Amino acid sequence: MTTPRGQPRPGTDNLLESLLKENRKFPPPADFKAKAIVKDRSLYDEAERDYQAFWAKQAEQNLHWFKKWDKVLDWQPPFAKWFVGGKTNVSYNCIDRHLASWRRTKAAIVWEGEPGDSVTLTYQDLAREVQKFANVLKSLGVKKGDRVTMYMGMVPELAISMLACARIGAIHSIVFGGFSADSVRDRVNDAQAKLVITQDGAWRRGNVVPLKVAVDDAVKDNKYVDKVVVLRRVGDKTPVKMQEGRDLWWHDLMAKASPVCPAEQMDAEDPLFILYTSGTTGKPKGILHTTGGYLLGVTMSTKWVFDIKDDDYYWCTADIGWVTGHSYIVYGPLSNGATSVMYEGGPDWPDRDRFWAIVEKYRINILYTSPTAIRTMMKWGTEFPARRDLSSLRLLGTVGEPINPEAWMWYHENIGKGRCPIVDTWWQTETGSILISPLPGVTATKPGTGTTGLPGIAAKIVDEKGKEVPPNTGGYLVLTRPWPSMLRTIWGDQQRYVDTYWNRFGKDIYVTGDGARRDEDGYFWITGRVDDVVKVSGHRLSNIEIESALVSHPSVAEAAAVGRSDAVKGEAVAVFVVLKQGQKATPELKQTLRQWVGEKIGSIARPDDVFFTADLPKTRSAKIMRRLLRDLAEGRVLGDTTTLTDPGIVENIKQQYIAEGKEEA
Ligand code: WTA
Repeated sequence: MTTPRGQPRPGTDNLLESLLKENRKFPPPADFKAKAIVKDRSLYDEAERDYQAFWAKQAEQNLHWFKKWDKVLDWQPPFAKWFVGGKTNVSYNCIDRHLASWRRTKAAIVWEGEPGDSVTLTYQDLAREVQKFANVLKSLGVKKGDRVTMYMGMVPELAISMLACARIGAIHSIVFGGFSADSVRDRVNDAQAKLVITQDGAWRRGNVVPLKVAVDDAVKDNKYVDKVVVLRRVGDKTPVKMQEGRDLWWHDLMAKASPVCPAEQMDAEDPLFILYTSGTTGKPKGILHTTGGYLLGVTMSTKWVFDIKDDDYYWCTADIGWVTGHSYIVYGPLSNGATSVMYEGGPDWPDRDRFWAIVEKYRINILYTSPTAIRTMMKWGTEFPARRDLSSLRLLGTVGEPINPEAWMWYHENIGKGRCPIVDTWWQTETGSILISPLPGVTATKPGTGTTGLPGIAAKIVDEKGKEVPPNTGGYLVLTRPWPSMLRTIWGDQQRYVDTYWNRFGKDIYVTGDGARRDEDGYFWITGRVDDVVKVSGHRLSNIEIESALVSHPSVAEAAAVGRSDAVKGEAVAVFVVLKQGQKATPELKQTLRQWVGEKIGSIARPDDVFFTADLPKTRSAKIMRRLLRDLAEGRVLGDTTTLTDPGIVENIKQQYIAEGKEEA
């Protein structure tokens, strides 16, 4: 999908423009509304009257507590403690409390393996496996507060590991299976993990991604990691070397483990997990979530937004390595006693109808996926969904990046057959749970907007000075009130937590990093990140991380990475590279650099466009003007260049960019 540079790209480049024109409205279908869990606005009203009392009531009615809290919220901006003094356990809430009812024999996790194998774990099965693995963790010396890193594919044992950690109070840190050994090393080191759980290899589009080999590399010189637990998934498809005294097979450990391990009584503010995400520097941030508030956030949002009922088959297509999988494959659905479907592989394996084959096979009722997945399916054409029976679907969701109205309409017509409400859910790793979304039985939706904040959530759009802007004016999306599932800190870097999120407009105003506008109905339209974060296929990456990877290559002197719009992926990565003296700018070197970034960070970060340039545009204070480069990569008219040290540089790059684009096209 190459377009000559210097011309606007089709599709998403017009996102903003089409968003501004969008005015179609879809009220909740009457039959959906009649049966919905939330039918009216009373929850919103109640939350506005007293948000703390509101959350306290939800926590009391929807979660199990060993001991009730003494205080709902202790808010010393920007530090929040929710349900102070309360005792609970996430694993108990997700498993044990369902065992006393008929749900004991209900399917908790329905897993579809990529090669076509499948496993159903009832709540009782899950209870047994989680307790066994919790005992395994204990036998390996893992204690409350210790960190455990998981580097796995989408297998049920990943969910079991998470719940086992939660059961004994160990803090899990999951690293997406698509990240490189270097990325695993950084995250294991930063968390000072004691144990790593991995698997021999993961299935991906019929191939095997070797995970254990990457872990070997990542923990080579690590002084904290005692043990590595290895799950056998692909058998002899990939060689695995087990290191004596360090590496242990999952099945050997589980064979000997007792199935009884009572849940620890955790403090509401005890850490539950760390999840690394990209920010505006080269170093990923370990977002820390705690027990009670996080659990409440995911439990309530799952119930309200997905209208989840006992007879639903619910499927979130995300990977558990990202926050969406944490909150909406594992914790949210299981806390609600729901049936959560989990799929191991790619959407086009063995054919491009795999998603729809899964919907047909399990008669999925609720489907939650990403705009990139929808745009990919759109590109493949309607013949694939048309092959399958999708009549079981009743609700659709999207997450991770803005959805363009065309993709929304395609989803609505070809997947939902005009019958299913669509919930466009806005949130972040940091927010823990969905904060802006329609409620499917209440809100009239419009294609391209997450509509309004959920009950209890206070979101605003402000200008540079922090002043709220009038309707239909762009600005910064901020949150002006604490919420239970908010991040508590950045692991090991309290100052960065304060500086990144709470320093711009006041220490009680959370800065999301997103730009947005609000329309005359008060609906939020997210226009994308305003910082150096890019969302490539919904995956969150940092420009600076990509730049650091590039400059670590022996041929590279300097590099700048920017996101540019892409019709399928939402954003793609374009890099501008200054080579060291004597290095030749060749097409082979472009290929090498792409590969290099893939190896350093993970293949999701591999740049789409590589441009060699003699110099980079910089301000007088030597800051790279990424905004200008972004304009160039987008083929837009250039903005103000007067603050540049040498405006000529930009003209040179532009000429070259246009010339190269023509070559490629
Ligand atoms: C973007 C993913 C528009 C946004 C759950 C946010 C969205 C970032 C939406 C967080 C949406 C997420 N509409 N943009 N519905 N959902 N985003 O941490 O830029 O991977 O700040 O969490 O994704 O990405 P993260």
